[in-house]
Amino acid sequence: GRPADLAGRRLVISAGGTREAIDPVRFIGNRSSGLQGYALARTAVARGAEVTLVAANVALPDPAGVKVVRVTSALELRDAVLEAVEDADAVVMAAAVADFRPSARSGSKIKKTADEPDAIHLVKNPDILAELGERRRAGLKPYPRVIAGFAAETDDVLANGRAKLTRKGCDLLVVNQVGDDLAFGTPDNAAVVLLAEGEQVDIPRGPKEALADVVWDLVAARLA
Ligand code: C5P
Repeated sequence: GRPADLAGRRLVISAGGTREAIDPVRFIGNRSSGLQGYALARTAVARGAEVTLVAANVALPDPAGVKVVRVTSALELRDAVLEAVEDADAVVMAAAVADFRPSARSGSKIKKTADEPDAIHLVKNPDILAELGERRRAGLKPYPRVIAGFAAETDDVLANGRAKLTRKGCDLLVVNQVGDDLAFGTPDNAAVVLLAEGEQVDIPRGPKEALADVVWDLVAARLA
C-alpha cells in the first residue's frame, strides 16, 4: 500500500450528482453515481487523511472513517462545501453539479394537460469550484490551499479542460471523456489530469481507486 502521506491532512470531497427540484416528485438530475468520489474518500482515509465527503444523491453506504454530509441540490452542496472547507487543506470537487436550476419549485405536482406544457424556466447555479478559486485569489477565507476539480467532456477534451482549469482557478483538473461506456456508474475510469503549471498526467483506463491515488499523489505533493 501507499505511505500515510496524507496523515493529519483535512480533505473535502464532493461526490454524486445534484438534483434540482421541479415539483415535489420531479427533478433535473444527471448520471453521476458517486463511485469516483467515494473511491477518492476511501483512498484518502487509507493514506491517513481526515475526510469530509459531501454526497449528493449517492446510493452507496458511508465509507468507514469518513464524515459524510448528504445533500440534494447545488445550493445545499455549496453550503456544505463552504462549511467543510473552513479548516481543510484541500478540496476535490468530484460531484456533478447542475449548472442551472428551475427558477421556482412548484409546491404541488404539475398536472398533465391536453395542451403543450409550460416551459420550465431555468436560472444559473453558483459555480462552487470557481467560487473557491476566486476566494483563494482574493484571500477571502474560507478557502483550502489546494483546489481540484473534475470535468467530463464529450469533445475537444484537452482544450476544453485547459480552458476550464484556467477559468475556475484550480490547481488541477481531472478531465475525462464521456459518452462511451467509460465513467458513469462503472468501476473503471480513464482520464488526464491537467495541472495549473501546464503539465498533464495521463491515467490509463483502470479502477477509480487508481485514478484517486494519482490525484492524492499530486495533492500531497502540493501540500508538502
Ligand atoms: O463546468 P463543469 O460542470 O464542467 O465543471 C466541472 C467541475 O466544476 C467539477 O469539479 C464540478 O464539481 C465543479 N462545478 C461546481 N459548481 C457548478 C458546476 C460545476 O463546483 N455549478
